[in-house]
Amino acid sequence: MNILILQASPRANGNTAWMAEEYKNAAEAAGHKVTLVNVSKKKIAGCLACEYCHGKGNGACIQKDDMQELYPLMAEAEVLVLAAPIYYFTLNAQIQAPIQRLYCVNKPAKVKKMALLMSSYSPGVYTGAISEYKDICGYWGVEDSGIVTAKIDEQKTEATKQKIQELVKNL
Ligand SMILES: Cc1cc2nc3c(=O)[nH]c(=O)nc-3n(C[C@H](O)[C@H](O)[C@H](O)COP(=O)(O)O)c2cc1C
Repeated sequence: MNILILQASPRANGNTAWMAEEYKNAAEAAGHKVTLVNVSKKKIAGCLACEYCHGKGNGACIQKDDMQELYPLMAEAEVLVLAAPIYYFTLNAQIQAPIQRLYCVNKPAKVKKMALLMSSYSPGVYTGAISEYKDICGYWGVEDSGIVTAKIDEQKTEATKQKIQELVKNL
């Protein structure tokens, strides 16, 4: 399958980046085509709610920022993997912007499955993020192929690596 991973931590060697890389390695080993994008390094503004896309824009966003690189990747993806750290009990801002900028196309056209990778310091901080993710899966009518979380003592461990490998087997 054609897999797009959006990795949203600004820490290049951090825990979320490690989880995204492990997913990529496992998916490529299983024969999938994988594109991994660090969205935290991109200039992606929030949606302006100007409705240009639903009128004169005919599906195109009026903002010409780095989302222009992502729209074609999202249009072709069959699996969308969101990888983000928890900031203040929710997915960080860097992952929210590209999700919300899909407003112009409503949903990524070919996505059938999603997965969610998250890291945090504390346990018990994932409720809001999981709720958002599951609501998006439902809204887009796509299958949740699984969620892996890694709090401080689970980061970069063999056990977390195995959970990520299990997610890939769900595809
Ligand atoms: C702005 C900010 C807010 C954070 N908020 C939380 C939080 O609410 N709960 C938590 O457990 N960890 C929180 N953390 C810690 C990160 O989620 C944690 O260190 C995570 O592993 C970072 O991922 P990374 O290594 O991929 O950058 C926060 C970190 C930052 C920088």
